[in-house]
Amino acid sequence: IQSTITLNNGTVIPQVGLGVFQTPDGDTTVKAVTAALEAGYRHIDTARIYGNEESVGEGIRRSGVPRGDIFLTTKLWNDDIRAHRAKDAFVESLDRLGVDYVDLYLIHWPADGWRQAWSDMQEIYAAGRAKAIGVSNFQRHHLEELLKDSDVTPAADQIESSPQFANQELVDFAHGLGIAVEAWSPLGGTGGTLLADPRLAEIGAKYGKSPAQVVIRWHIQRGVVVLPKSTHAERIRQNFDVFDFNLAAADMAAVSALETGRRNGADPDDFDF
Ligand code: A2P
Repeated sequence: IQSTITLNNGTVIPQVGLGVFQTPDGDTTVKAVTAALEAGYRHIDTARIYGNEESVGEGIRRSGVPRGDIFLTTKLWNDDIRAHRAKDAFVESLDRLGVDYVDLYLIHWPADGWRQAWSDMQEIYAAGRAKAIGVSNFQRHHLEELLKDSDVTPAADQIESSPQFANQELVDFAHGLGIAVEAWSPLGGTGGTLLADPRLAEIGAKYGKSPAQVVIRWHIQRGVVVLPKSTHAERIRQNFDVFDFNLAAADMAAVSALETGRRNGADPDDFDF
C-alpha cells in the first residue's frame, strides 16, 4: 500500500509521484501518465516550463482515474515570477491541464519577484484553486526570508536530493518548520551515474529489488516525497513497486554514504534562467 505524508494544511500527498521533467509533450507524456496511473500512482508532478501540461491533462483523462483521486502539482515559471504574472500564469496552467484546481502550486525557482508571487499564491490558495501552495529550489535563507513577512508557511519545498547530493541540512531545516520536502532528480538525474553504482545492486540483491527501487525506498524512509521520472512503462511500474520491503538501518546508511556533495542540477543561489 502506498505511503502518504500529511502537509501542514492537512492535505495528504502520496509519497511517490511521477515526475515529467524532460518528458516530451504529446504521446510520450500521455503514455507515461496513463502507465503511471494504471500502475497505481496517484501523484503527477509537472511544471509550466516542462511544456507538457496539456499532455499530462490528456493522460489523466484517458486513464479514467477520477480527478479527485489524483494529486497534481504544477509550478510557476521564472519569467512569470519576474513579470508578476502569477495569477494569470496559474489560470493558463489550469487551462492547459484542463482541470479546475491543482493540489499543489509551487514557485519554481527563487527568481526576482518571488515575494510578490508568494503573496499572489496565497490569494490563489484562498480561492480554493490550489489545495496547497509551496516553493521549489528555496534554500534555507530563502525560507527564512519568506517566513519573515508571511504568516503562511509553504506546504512543501521541492529541491534536488539524491544519494549523491542528499541536501540533508536543508531537508532537516525544512522538516523542522513543518515544510514537506520533495526530491527532484531523486535517481541522480538523466545521464547520471548513480544507478550504475554496484553498491546499489548489492543492496538490492538482498531484497530482490533494483538499484532504482533501493534509491526510491531510501527516499521514502527518510521521509521525503520522491518524484522519479521515466518514459518507459516498465520502469514506471518498477519505480512504484517499493511498498513491500524495508531497508535495514545499515543499508540506509550505505545508501547515504554515496554522498559526493556535488549537485547534478543548477544552484538556487546562482542560476541564470
Ligand atoms: P528513462 O526515462 O529513459 O527511463 P531522475 O533522477 O531525474 O528521476 O532521473 C531518472 C533517470 O533515470 C531518467 O533518465 C530515467 O530514464 C532513468 N530511470 C528511471 N527509472 C529507472 C529505473 N527503474 N531503472 C533505470 N533507469 C531509470
